[in-house]
Amino acid sequence: MRDKIVLAYSGGLDTSVSIRLIQEKYDFDVITMTVDVGQGSNLKEIEEKAKIIGAIKHYSIDAKEEFVKKYIFQAIKANALYEGKYPLSAALSRPLIASKLVEVAKKENAIGVAHGCTGKGNDQVRFDITIKSLEPNLRIIAPIREWNLSRDEELKYAKEKKIPLVFEKNKVYSIDQNLWGRSIESGPLEDPSTEPPEAAFEWTESPENALNEPEYLTINFREGIPYAINGETLDAVTLIEKLNNIAGKHGIGRIDHMEDRLIGIKSREVYECPAATVILEAHNDLEKTILTKHELSFKKLVDNQWTFLVYSGLWMEPLKEALEAFIDKTQERLFGKVKVKLYKGSVRVVGRSSPMSLYDLKLATYKSSTTFDQTWSLGFIELWGLPTRAANILKRNKKKRD
Ligand code: ARG
Repeated sequence: MRDKIVLAYSGGLDTSVSIRLIQEKYDFDVITMTVDVGQGSNLKEIEEKAKIIGAIKHYSIDAKEEFVKKYIFQAIKANALYEGKYPLSAALSRPLIASKLVEVAKKENAIGVAHGCTGKGNDQVRFDITIKSLEPNLRIIAPIREWNLSRDEELKYAKEKKIPLVFEKNKVYSIDQNLWGRSIESGPLEDPSTEPPEAAFEWTESPENALNEPEYLTINFREGIPYAINGETLDAVTLIEKLNNIAGKHGIGRIDHMEDRLIGIKSREVYECPAATVILEAHNDLEKTILTKHELSFKKLVDNQWTFLVYSGLWMEPLKEALEAFIDKTQERLFGKVKVKLYKGSVRVVGRSSPMSLYDLKLATYKSSTTFDQTWSLGFIELWGLPTRAANILKRNKKKRD
């Protein structure tokens, strides 16, 4: 009997070619595994394709709920936007898929696991570090990276080996999608000076053609996590699917930015993340209503570090857990609702309320009913400006002396 390898299989070019390469170049049997994180592919078709190419067994794993509860929710609490723009959709799914690879490998007594990542991206880092942290003894095979294959070479190999490429014909873009967003790469997008063609987008209407009427939504949060839309409590997966749908129709969530990959390459990245864009905007606003200014300014640093670790493949890093202890502590008070207005590509928070709000109308109001005594400010300004004034006096005196 041949040794077995479990391959994370998406049905795309890289992983299809990988099945055959592992069999031929390494002489292993291949078990394929597809994890459903809400990418919306036809799992039955993927399984059939894997078997036609030569997989001896296939696993389809529905991990949508786990993905939302353990990964997306944590990203919401951390306001995670890499380099201020990218909600980490692909980055969040990799450690989950890696953990499933390890699970299946153990169950099947496989000697190793495999993925179709190239050697140019972040995903290889995320897979490898998570796998090695969970199970150091598993061998990791990444055929595309090992053989340094280009897309053209893969297509040639696939043709030679009669690997069915129904999905690949005329495919211009390289896509990765899950509940938290859709990433679109390659083809015309590789020229960062030109606008992405409309055909690159599937989840979002163009803002120009989006609905002509604005739409208001109220999102309820409990401990930093969204749980209801317009008063209707929804399960985690449905809530995100629904928001992707509604916000997508309003042209919300298109992202186009220059991204620094971990391995040093700068790349132009295009995403569609409608639900993520709306939820993060609302969550961030609610935090500003509830947390103190000291908590907020420190949390920015923590959020930023959390986001960097997750982007950079360090889901298993103990620092991440420690940062989460801080983040979760702040979210204990994060109850309330946020009203957003969706209109032609933009999401704007237009209202918020919370039993935990620090907003005090009696202090903030400009009316005579205010409890804020303006004379308090005089002494405050005196002390607050003390060091700045002193430094400027010194600067002036020094100029005179020179
Ligand atoms: N640049 C993004 C990231 O590093 C998107 C990656 C998409 N992955 C893919 N295999 N197409 O997270």
